[in-house]
Amino acid sequence: MKFTQFLMKSGSVSGIPRQVERFSKFSPSPLSMKQFIDFGSSNACEKTSFVFLRQELPVRLANIMKEIDFLPDKLLSTPSLKLLTSWYSRSLLELIEFLEKDPVDKGVLESFTQALVNIRNRHNDVVPTMAQGVVEFKEAFGVDPITNQNVQYFLDRFYMSRISTRMLMNQHTLIFDGAVNPAHPKHIGSIDPSCDVVEVVKDAYEASKLLCEQYYLTSPDMEVTQVNFPDQPIHIVYVPSHLYHMLFELFKNAMRATVETHEASLTLPPIKVRVSLGGEDLTIKMSDRGGGVPLRKIERLFSYMYSTAPSPVHEDNSRNAPLAGFGYGLPISRLYAKYFQGDLQLYSMEGYGSSAVIYLKALSSESVERLPVFNKSALRHYQSTTEADDWCIPSKDPKNMGKDDRAR
Ligand SMILES: Nc1ncnc2c1ncn2[C@@H]1O[C@H](COP(=O)(O)OP(=O)(O)O)[C@@H](O)[C@H]1O
Ligand SMILES: [Mg+2]
Repeated sequence: MKFTQFLMKSGSVSGIPRQVERFSKFSPSPLSMKQFIDFGSSNACEKTSFVFLRQELPVRLANIMKEIDFLPDKLLSTPSLKLLTSWYSRSLLELIEFLEKDPVDKGVLESFTQALVNIRNRHNDVVPTMAQGVVEFKEAFGVDPITNQNVQYFLDRFYMSRISTRMLMNQHTLIFDGAVNPAHPKHIGSIDPSCDVVEVVKDAYEASKLLCEQYYLTSPDMEVTQVNFPDQPIHIVYVPSHLYHMLFELFKNAMRATVETHEASLTLPPIKVRVSLGGEDLTIKMSDRGGGVPLRKIERLFSYMYSTAPSPVHEDNSRNAPLAGFGYGLPISRLYAKYFQGDLQLYSMEGYGSSAVIYLKALSSESVERLPVFNKSALRHYQSTTEADDWCIPSKDPKNMGKDDRAR
């Protein structure tokens, strides 16, 4: 059946649930860094990439669309979520159209690339739109730990899915547009097969420093050291824009904390960055003396619902605006790190400062996409009912112990 017939038969909107069912039955296929590079090497074949993506992109979209359905109704019915789900539906339909098209036809390949560009643009504002929906939901219904847990579980998967689909679309459009990137002729799409980590650290520092100086008229210095054996500059196969994103977010946080805790002093303690390459991990540690965060609050810094920053629309947070966003800096950066099997953690010594650590895989053979899949265990997460905590809750007032607490 032709797509247009399908539209007429099913009505453009009612066809969506069927297509989501159909494609969510497949599991996404995670690609390794090597596969990404092979797709873009000299014998790169646009046709192969096209045939893969016209199936894989709908599979990834449909898998995450299944999970969107399990969000609380009150969140789904916000205008932001309605808009956002309409983007997903439209993009899914546009991609499915290509399943019947002839991969040998040059015109088909060109219109596919154009479709990817359109889809990518349509989804540009997914993160702030979703965040807006969460804020509306939170303001109307408050936050409880279970909802926070479910929304956290969902959003980590949702944003990870988005990182992955954008990666696939970027690779295809960059590699097959026929032009070599003049600034980076060795890059394969968005991947640098020899990414100089310290270079990216310096770039991210400079960009953050600029914002910091605009705002506070001062900024801390940076000291960067690298540890490698033999003593060579550290290179990895990586997506420099992802690494830059994480480092830029960490620098902004470290600078803000440093400047604000040293307002009274004439000098600022430097931000220290150490890059170390081992057999398995490439580790980047950024330490500041910005006063730190109490342990109790660390987990919340990664929470989408408990994010400290007020909604940009409602309150005047202009003072910190350039250096702080809507509280998604850390959680999204951690997703970028996890996307290729790394991680991002924050350690703190309250009263002194914090260290943020980015872990990446040292070997490209271990850098494989980490993707959510909608299956029974994912379903179980959304269906879990409110259960009592299986650790004792400390009594707030020990003197009252004995009466209420024991009579259970
Ligand atoms: N290095 C740090 N030192 C002290 N506090 C930090 C540091 N990094 C993050 N934080 C705290 O964590 C919060 C969340 O950070 P982030 O996710 O980047 O969101 P945002 O910067 O937009 O608030 C910050 O507002 C800040 O209170
Ligand atoms: Mg931040």
